[in-house]
Amino acid sequence: SEERLRRVRDRVRSFPDFPEPGVLFRDISPLLKDPVAFGALIDLLEDHVRASFPQIDFIAGLDSRGFLIGPPLAQRLGIGFVPVRKKGKLPGPTESVTYNLEYGKAELEIQSDAVEPGQKVVIVDDLLATGGTMRAACELLRRLEAEILECLVVIELKALKGSEKLSSIPFHALLQYD
Ligand code: PRP
Ligand code: HPA
Repeated sequence: SEERLRRVRDRVRSFPDFPEPGVLFRDISPLLKDPVAFGALIDLLEDHVRASFPQIDFIAGLDSRGFLIGPPLAQRLGIGFVPVRKKGKLPGPTESVTYNLEYGKAELEIQSDAVEPGQKVVIVDDLLATGGTMRAACELLRRLEAEILECLVVIELKALKGSEKLSSIPFHALLQYD
């Protein structure tokens, strides 16, 4: 497991001042490019979810990089995937919520029939920065009366204290950066 975590950590790159001055951007492209490292990532997430939550109905993933991690994880677990998208992408009735980003502002949506009341969901994304995106996703799932088991990310940017925005909702990150 330490070996798998090392393989994942070795495939995260850092770019200063992207997409704007002052942001140190953590890039998971090398992780996606390396099938052994990406396999190790999905192994680690699968083990974590299986050990923590024997009962789970769906993985919800956040637009857009949560879509790279959520579906392979859901497949491993033998459950379905639900997309939480940026505004204006989903047809039919939706719930929507606006939120602030580390850089900029945005709006997230979920289809109103994505989950039934009481269904158990883990929300996944690549990275937690200020926590605004994840908190907005939690608000959408709360409106659908889902039971949020956990917010799960590959990378937590500790210094931005995003996990504090999630208050009482369980949170887990595989890797942490200051
Ligand atoms: C990034 C990242 C998370 C979010 C984290 O996505 O993938 O979803 O920001 O930031 P926060 O914790 O401060 O809210 P971004 O909004 O850049 O969109 P993208 O995935 O479409 O590139
Ligand atoms: N890396 C990748 N995505 C991000 C970051 C970052 O540092 N901050 C907000 N979204």
